[in-house]
Amino acid sequence: SWTMEAFIERAVEQVGRQVGPDQRVVCGLSGGVDSAVCAALLARALGPRVVCVFVDTGLLRGGERADVENVFRSHSEAELRVIDASTQFLKALEGVTDPQEKRLRIGHTFIDVFREEARSIPGAHFLAQGTLYPDVIESGGEPDGPTATIKIHHNVGGLPAELGFELIEPLRDLFKDEVRRLGLELGLPDSLVWRHPFPGPGLAVRCLGEVTAPRLEVLRQADAIFLDELRQAGLERQIAQAFAVLLPVQSVGVMGDARTYENVIAIRAVETEDFMTADWSRLPHEVLARSSTRIINSVKGVNRVVYDVTSKPPGTIEWE
Ligand code: XMP
Repeated sequence: SWTMEAFIERAVEQVGRQVGPDQRVVCGLSGGVDSAVCAALLARALGPRVVCVFVDTGLLRGGERADVENVFRSHSEAELRVIDASTQFLKALEGVTDPQEKRLRIGHTFIDVFREEARSIPGAHFLAQGTLYPDVIESGGEPDGPTATIKIHHNVGGLPAELGFELIEPLRDLFKDEVRRLGLELGLPDSLVWRHPFPGPGLAVRCLGEVTAPRLEVLRQADAIFLDELRQAGLERQIAQAFAVLLPVQSVGVMGDARTYENVIAIRAVETEDFMTADWSRLPHEVLARSSTRIINSVKGVNRVVYDVTSKPPGTIEWE
């Protein structure tokens, strides 16, 4: 019968046979569950012959980079390389407002940064990817079906062909719930294993209009407050994804005796099984009220918060 321990044992054995003693496996970490579990499993088999590469795009959420660093420095023998490429990404996004163009530029920049790093790893022969069974059967590789054609997806998908790596996909027989169990079994913390998905292009597609460092900072702060309120209300598990969006409009407000003219933040929380369809979460009004008050009081440059009550379809989960 199938058990997690047996799966780990078999995977470790198989990888041990596949990867020669002088060869190394490059593993791109996204901050998400799949790539983290993939890396942890490989580290079990290969220890420091696994080189994890985490690209800080400058488009990450608050605390995300630190979380990855903490988990991988303390839970794993793999080597971790964190690359701060935020300047490069911001430069590539300068003046760009079109969502597809944002994704394309981020995708290209990511490949450039990753390629350069990979070249500096001696013996790097393999590239590990956290492809799951549902990705395999969709065979396009896109995690979310119909919208893949609506939104160009930035994943590490194009990398092996471009870089001449041989691919290792140790999770390709697993479903998401099995990957989470595997992650726990491998000692990854709950907070990582139950993480909500986060899109490859990150905050860039939640920063509507031009992506600049100050606008990202406004968005990042608002997002962190909203997620914190959901966590405090114990709603994290029932919600599939939640985030803030910075809109490219300003609205009039009043502060003391003065008129303000500042940014609008939209907050969104959805419930879904498969991300192909989704319903907006009927969040308690108290949670919405606290989120709104906190965001407006503590994020400079925001004077209005709205809640997104659109299901998918006709809306998509992300705004871009
Ligand atoms: P949508 O907005 O299409 O999102 O309803 C469905 C799921 O896909 C995620 N998403 C992306 N993930 N690169 C990704 O890796 C992308 O470009 C991208 N766009 C959307 C979204 O966060 C949701 O989980």
